[in-house]
Amino acid sequence: MDGTPRDNDISKIVEADRAHIWHHLIQHKPFETNEPRIIVEGKDMRVWDQNGKEHIDGVSGGVWTVNVGYGRERIANAVRDQLLKLNYFAGAAGSVPGSIFAEKLIEKMPGLSRVYYCNSGSEANEKAFKMIRQIAHKRYGGKKNKILYRDRDYHGTTISTLSAGGQDERNAQYGPYTPGFIRVPHCLEYRAQWGLSGEEYGQRAADAIEEIILAEGPDTVGGLCLEPVTAGGGVITPPP
Ligand SMILES: Cc1ncc(COP(=O)(O)O)c(C=O)c1O
Repeated sequence: MDGTPRDNDISKIVEADRAHIWHHLIQHKPFETNEPRIIVEGKDMRVWDQNGKEHIDGVSGGVWTVNVGYGRERIANAVRDQLLKLNYFAGAAGSVPGSIFAEKLIEKMPGLSRVYYCNSGSEANEKAFKMIRQIAHKRYGGKKNKILYRDRDYHGTTISTLSAGGQDERNAQYGPYTPGFIRVPHCLEYRAQWGLSGEEYGQRAADAIEEIILAEGPDTVGGLCLEPVTAGGGVITPPP
């Protein structure tokens, strides 16, 4: 386990990447003069790049998603076994692992009873927005369709999740956005908007959300979309 690629000529891989890959969340200009980084292999919490350089992965796959670590044989074997048994069938039908896992997940989510499987955070949030809109149509004549979102929070990369995006730098130049999304203030005490601190600041931030609901009309607001702890927007633990 040293990150040595199976293909001896890693330069071909680097060139193919440079020529054909459009990377996520990174500027490409520097790749004109520098190599893009290729992560070749991982074990536990370490990864190796194309030059065999070892890195400790303190960001869990770059976007906090590989919490189980790398090279987990038991997981790889379970995935392999299932791929051979049944690799895919559309979600209109059930599956054995889908059913077992849903039950386990629900045990950890008191008050909830159902799981909807999807492929990404963006897609999950799109689904939640659709639920809000569908409930608005079924029960409130379509009126209760507005979705509040918080300054600094991030919810994904599709047009509607960008419409709920509180990070203007990421949203720039993707408009027009989906209608009906309303921004509420952030609760980052370090950049406090109201000259308050601690509990008073937290209360003010909550009141600010209520003020917006009242201004918009509570009968028009169907949901509030928040990161419980804002991650990319500053790792913001909400005030007490
Ligand atoms: C809080 C939060 N929500 C949603 C997303 C979007 O998830 P995905 O990139 O899987 O679409 C992210 C991704 O970083 C996120 O951090």
